Amino acid sequence: MPELLTLSRAARLAEVTRAELQRRIRQGDVETFEGAVRISDLLRIYPNIRLDRDKGFEQAEAIKAAAVPRDQRADAVLPSPRVLLSRLRGLADTLVQKVAALDAAEELFDALTLRLADIADAPAADAAAAQAAVGEVLAWLAAERRALAEHPQPDSRAQLFAKDSFLRIMSASIKIIPSGHEFFCEGSETILEASVRAGLKLSYGCSSGNCGACKARVVSGEVWKTTDHDYVLSEREKQMGYVLTCANTAVTDLVLEAAEALDATDLPLQEIRAAVRKLEPAGEDLLLIQVQTPRTQTLRFMAGQRARLTLEDGASGELPIASCPCNGRNLQFFVRRRPGDALAEAAFTGLAAHQMITLTGPVGDFVLREGSPEPAVFIALDDGIAPIKSLLEHAVSIDSIEAFHLYWAGALPRGHHLVNWCRAMTDSLDNFRYTPLAPTEPGESGAAQVLATLATDYPEPSAMRFYLAGPGHEVDLLTEGLVALGVGPEAIAGEAIN
Ligand code: FES
Repeated sequence: MPELLTLSRAARLAEVTRAELQRRIRQGDVETFEGAVRISDLLRIYPNIRLDRDKGFEQAEAIKAAAVPRDQRADAVLPSPRVLLSRLRGLADTLVQKVAALDAAEELFDALTLRLADIADAPAADAAAAQAAVGEVLAWLAAERRALAEHPQPDSRAQLFAKDSFLRIMSASIKIIPSGHEFFCEGSETILEASVRAGLKLSYGCSSGNCGACKARVVSGEVWKTTDHDYVLSEREKQMGYVLTCANTAVTDLVLEAAEALDATDLPLQEIRAAVRKLEPAGEDLLLIQVQTPRTQTLRFMAGQRARLTLEDGASGELPIASCPCNGRNLQFFVRRRPGDALAEAAFTGLAAHQMITLTGPVGDFVLREGSPEPAVFIALDDGIAPIKSLLEHAVSIDSIEAFHLYWAGALPRGHHLVNWCRAMTDSLDNFRYTPLAPTEPGESGAAQVLATLATDYPEPSAMRFYLAGPGHEVDLLTEGLVALGVGPEAIAGEAIN
C-alpha cells in the first residue's frame, strides 16, 4: 500500500466525507503532502476505522451484486475483463514488493539474532556484563518471536492495505489538474461519465467520440479505450498523452490535465431538443416537469442555473433547473400556475409526456462557490426551493462543504412535493439540517421568519456562506438583514424567482 493516500481515498477508507477530512487538516490534526495524507496519520486520527466490514466494501459488493448476470447489461457494472486484469496485475506487483520487503526484514532479523548470539558467546573476560545483557536480549527476542508465531498481532496497516487494494480493483481515483478536483471512476464507466456523475464540468460535446471537445492529457496513470472513435488524434497528441475522456476509462489512478468550467461564464449557451419524460402534480397549482435530453446531447450547466423551455405551441419561459448537474440528461423543472404566465398555462393544459420541447441554456450565475468549505446556509423562500435543491444536490455530490443548513420559509412548503425530499436529506446526511418555517402571524414575510430564527441558531453568522432564492423583494430584505447581522456581502449569493 502506498505510504500516502489522496484525500478522496483516505476519506473513503475512513468513511468520512472529504469535507470532514479537510476540516481535520485545517485544524492541524493531520499533515498533508501535496494533497495526500500518510496512512499512519489516518489511522491515528481515525483509530476506529472498521477494517472488517464497511461502507466501501458494501458499495463494492453492491456493484458486484448488480453485476450478477441477469441480462445482457451485466457487464455494464463490473470493469471490463481487460481493465480488471490490468488492475489485478498492478495489485500483484504491489504484493510482490510487500512480500519481498517482509522477507528482507525477516532475513535481517535472523542475521541480528546470529550476531547477538556471537557476541554473547565471545570469550573476552571484560565482556561478562555485556554478555549477560546480550543474553537477556536474546531471551527476550526468542520469547517475542514465539509469541508472534503463536499469536500474530492484528496489523491494522496490513488490513488497511487489503481494504484499499480491494477498493482499487473496483474503482480508480482521478485527479484533475489544475483544478485539483478528484473523483472515482467506477465499474466500466468512461472518465467523462464518471466526471459528470461527480458533478464536475469537464469540457465535452458529443459524448460519442466525434467532436474532440473532451480531449484531455494523461499526466500519470493508465487508461483503456472503451470504444473506437471517429475523431482522429494527431500522432503528436498521442505522444503527449492526449485521450478522449468519452471513449476511455481509467485502469489505474490517474492525474489528468483537462479543461474544466469553473464558473458560469465558462459554459456555452446550448439549444437542445428534448422530450418530456413525465409530468407530476407537485402541490397546489404546482407541476413537476421531468425532461430528458438525447443521450449524446446532455445539458452542461452549473447547479443553481436556469434554462428556457419552449413548447411546440411557442409558449416559452425561463425556469430554475431543480436537479443536479451530475445528471445532465434528466432535468427537473417546477412550474407554478399563475395568471398571465403562458408557459404555465400551456404546461397545465396541453403538455403531455413524450412531447418534444426545446431547451435553451444555461443562464444565471447563482452557483455554488467552490473551494469555500465553510458551513453553508441555504434559504429558500417559497418557490426558491427549486434552484436551492439543485445547489444542495450538487454540494452533496462534490462533498466539499462541511455542513449545510436549509431553511425553507413561506406559505408554500405545506403540501409541496419537496417536503419529503427535505426529510430524506435529513435522514441520510449527518451534516445536514432542515428547518421549515411557516408564518406565525398573518402577513409575516418569509425573510422576517428566517432572520428571527437565524439570530437564535447562529449568533455569529459572519463565518458562514449564504445562498438565498425566492421572490426578489424577499431576497433583498434577507440580504439587508444578513448584512446587518455582520455577514459580508461577498458571502451572500441571491437569486430572484419572479
Ligand atoms: S465529447 Fe465529443 S469526442 Fe468526446
